[in-house]
Amino acid sequence: MEASQSIGSIVLLGPPGAGKGTQAKRITERYAIPQISTGDLLRENVRNGTALGLKAKDIMARGELVPDELLYDMVAERLRRPDCERGYILDGFPRTAAQAGWLDAFLEREILDNPKCGKWLPFVISMDVDYNVLLLRLTGRRTCPTCERIYNVHYQPPRVDGICDVDGAKLVTRNDDREEVIRERLQAYERQTRPVAEYYQQKGRLVSVDGMLNADQVTEQVFREIRNHSPAKVGGC
Ligand code: AP5
Repeated sequence: MEASQSIGSIVLLGPPGAGKGTQAKRITERYAIPQISTGDLLRENVRNGTALGLKAKDIMARGELVPDELLYDMVAERLRRPDCERGYILDGFPRTAAQAGWLDAFLEREILDNPKCGKWLPFVISMDVDYNVLLLRLTGRRTCPTCERIYNVHYQPPRVDGICDVDGAKLVTRNDDREEVIRERLQAYERQTRPVAEYYQQKGRLVSVDGMLNADQVTEQVFREIRNHSPAKVGGC
């Protein structure tokens, strides 16, 4: 697949710590399409003290999901930006069956409103990982606040302890990567996000990769799935 070709709408689906952010960054580098992480967008809103950020802050700190309707405008605005024209990776969205239904309806509406097209039905890559491995991955995660590179003290440590390999910034631990919050996030996933996989399975738009493998092996599988898939456009344009 050429870097200039349309890649389409890719959703990375999996529990907290499955490796969605890690793989999304690699897809971005390989295919030059943007990563749209609702977690990152929400954290940016919290940092900037926006109305959305003020509503989301405590909910996120508890490890619960932010109410669906608070996310839709933020996601719609992001998907309409010109850098999404060849495709994009959604990381952390949709996360409830209602969000999945909203996304399909939004993309269908956009295509009707915009005869130039460029919007696709999402193609979903699901990654599953055992509970205890997720706990270890999340408690060991460190992130660079400057370049957002993701490390892990157990699996992918930086060359110098606590320091980003790329820009030398001091690595940080995410506020919701505390064990009691991680447990709540994993429960929220089981309760609210499992049905999203069923939603896409029924529509024949879900493939699975083995998230237990090391990050490079998962990337190989993810790239293979992207190569094998041709973007399914909404409508006949
Ligand atoms: P969000 O930021 O989306 O977090 P999450 O889904 O909990 O996912 P993570 O970012 O924790 O994990 P990841 O799968 O990206 O793993 P990573 O690659 O970093 O959401 C945060 C909060 O925002 C939610 O709790 C909610 O409140 C709110 N929110 C966001 N979206 C929402 C929505 N749509 N609706 C409602 N609320 C929403 O990897 C984890 C670690 O493992 C890293 O250290 C990495 O180095 C390591 N690692 C990765 N892959 C491997 C591997 N294959 N082998 C070994 N180690 C690995």
